[in-house]
Amino acid sequence: ARHLLGIEPLGQDEIVALLDRAEIHANEMRDGVTPERRLAGLTQINMFFEASTRTQASFELAGKRLGADVMNMAMGSSSLKKGETLIDTALTLNAMRPDLIVVRHPHSGAVDLLAQKVNCAVLNAGDGRHEHPTQALLDALTIRRAKGRLHRLSIAICGDIAHSRVARSNLLLLGKMENRLRLVGPPTLMPPGISELGVEVFESMEEGLKGADVVMMLRLQKERMDGGYIPSEREYYHRYGLDAEKLAYAKDDAIVMHPGPMNRGVEIDGTIADDINRSVIQTQVEMGVAVRMAAMELLAENLKQANARGAEGI
Ligand code: CP
Repeated sequence: ARHLLGIEPLGQDEIVALLDRAEIHANEMRDGVTPERRLAGLTQINMFFEASTRTQASFELAGKRLGADVMNMAMGSSSLKKGETLIDTALTLNAMRPDLIVVRHPHSGAVDLLAQKVNCAVLNAGDGRHEHPTQALLDALTIRRAKGRLHRLSIAICGDIAHSRVARSNLLLLGKMENRLRLVGPPTLMPPGISELGVEVFESMEEGLKGADVVMMLRLQKERMDGGYIPSEREYYHRYGLDAEKLAYAKDDAIVMHPGPMNRGVEIDGTIADDINRSVIQTQVEMGVAVRMAAMELLAENLKQANARGAEGI
């Protein structure tokens, strides 16, 4: 494929190939091995129309580790402020002949639209409540490393599912890998029609976490609640915040995940988040660099092959 816009179009084989490639990068990083500069001579532009710490930093590091020329667009001080549209901004940057564009945007579908207008490879760094494919891939790699497999696991995704692109991409990926998926949260934070997707839905943490191998917590995404129901943080923590008592419902060796940024004392207790025997939150961040290296490398290879075919008139 030319772009990485979501998990939806990916097959099991493609996901495993990407994770295998990322695994090599992760091991090399751990061992202090300098990677081959497979993106040398290529230009990567990062366009983040929404706040980010992990995704933006790791895409930048990933590109630099592979030798790309990386440019971070400061969207807040760009000509968007003067009324230029997303598409005109993309066409302007496209004219500068980048090879890879990484985009985060608050509107679902905005990254797909942009990808249709440019000649380079586009990577979705999160669009609205639609998809966050590299997050799901780094979560998958983290689970595979912690559990030794990525299938037949009982995985509980808890909290604000309705507004979460992380939940959506994870459901798609982990579902393709034949896991048992359980969604836990208040009905007001569940997307409509979710039970038709072959997942189990629970309102109580006790029921939802029973026997889980993986407990994935999500942030309350108030910025996407559009004036709708926003639960009180105290009440929410009492019913859904992951503390030692609730974690005890899961398997004894269950791992705790959170994509970040986390709100301690709202969806997760700080001591659980910091417990290195249970929490793999820092590993998720570490795997983010490896997964983004693998994804950009793969798209750059595809681009090179497509250009070679074009030059030969195939
Ligand atoms: N998980 C995630 O996307 O984090 P950032 O918003 O910090 O990039």
